[in-house]
Amino acid sequence: MPRLFIAIELPDELKQKLGSLEKSFEFSQARWVKPENLHLTLKFLGQVKEEKVNSIASALKGLTADFSAFTLQTGEIGAFPSFKRARVIWIDIKSGREEAKKLACLIDDKLSLLGFEKEERDFQPHITLVRLKKPTPLFNLPVVNWSFSFLAKEVILFESVLKPTGPVYTPVGIFPLKITT
Ligand code: 2AM
Repeated sequence: MPRLFIAIELPDELKQKLGSLEKSFEFSQARWVKPENLHLTLKFLGQVKEEKVNSIASALKGLTADFSAFTLQTGEIGAFPSFKRARVIWIDIKSGREEAKKLACLIDDKLSLLGFEKEERDFQPHITLVRLKKPTPLFNLPVVNWSFSFLAKEVILFESVLKPTGPVYTPVGIFPLKITT
């Protein structure tokens, strides 16, 4: 059974810029997301029966064709669940938040009709940078004195294969958003 998630892919230039933040942090027991794997998750599906993949693709195709491409702009560093006890460190989205939320909500609703559980938590658009083994208090965080804007013009259904060297993400479907001129 493939392990799937739905995400917005990032431009290579942004992946490089985000990857270069690693040198501003000093953590022990941290797992940095490899730059090529950085993305903005819209929904994690987990292990999915092979026979469901086509209906997921049809649902995504239908909803993305009707959803306009939008600009995303990166913001500051954030942490889940809090800066005092950080487990996940991420980059915030400062423009395009509402559109990303709306898109994630639509996906959640549409996929619930296929039997996927709806998210209980409010969707908070973010790009995960690093996962920490233990809750860690964060002080003197580096300031990200740049932001990067790009057009989110497609939604990708990724397969995630977990390997000893880390996950490998492969697109299994690309769903363009509506381009309005
Ligand atoms: P996040 O890093 O943006 O929070 C692929 O594994 C992606 O699915 C991860 O980047 C993660 O998004 C998201 N995800 C959400 N719930 C997950 C879970 N239970 N296990 C693994 N990934 C999950």
